[in-house]
Amino acid sequence: MALGGAAIAQSTNQASGTSPSAHGDAFLGKHAIKALPFGGAVKNLNKVEETLAQITPDTPGFTVSSLEAAKLKFTNSMILHEAYFGNLGGDSKAAGPQTDRLLAQAYGSRLRWEELFRALGNALGGGSGWAILDWDFNAHGPRTYWAGDHTNALAFGAPLLVMDMYEHAYAIDYGASAKDYIEAFFKNVHWAEVERRLGVAQKADAALRS
Ligand SMILES: [Fe+2]
Repeated sequence: MALGGAAIAQSTNQASGTSPSAHGDAFLGKHAIKALPFGGAVKNLNKVEETLAQITPDTPGFTVSSLEAAKLKFTNSMILHEAYFGNLGGDSKAAGPQTDRLLAQAYGSRLRWEELFRALGNALGGGSGWAILDWDFNAHGPRTYWAGDHTNALAFGAPLLVMDMYEHAYAIDYGASAKDYIEAFFKNVHWAEVERRLGVAQKADAALRS
């Protein structure tokens, strides 16, 4: 299926220990575009990082704050799009055993969780935002979170399952029907990848508590 048909691209930060810049890794502007569709965010992030490197104590506060706001927006857009494309391409088989068990523990059953996740997606339909199942390091379990835009991410979470609810994700294939897009999304969830992310988050959570 064609989810996210618009021309955007996946990326990775190829910063290494040997910085070609005197400014440090935070200003490298070297995020590389992969062959997936969200290059705009990556190119803009690189430009913002390069511009931030030029800030001096005399730079006006409004310039600093708008650059930092843009950096957060483009960074989260890159991270969320990578997670989104990474959790698609499955065949809709049942969720993995740990995902299933922990969603039931948190929501009563995985189906009840899915009902609520779909409801959030539908509520965002026609506008913009993300429906995100995070590992919540505060709650020590999976929790669904709303994000009205790229900057509304849970402060201490790791995305497990991400659904792009910006209209560009579905308007080409489904018109205004967020409902049909959500239906197709759930038919294509890569549950093995969600289970893998959950396992990594559980280990990280245990390490943080030790
Ligand atoms: Fe998107």
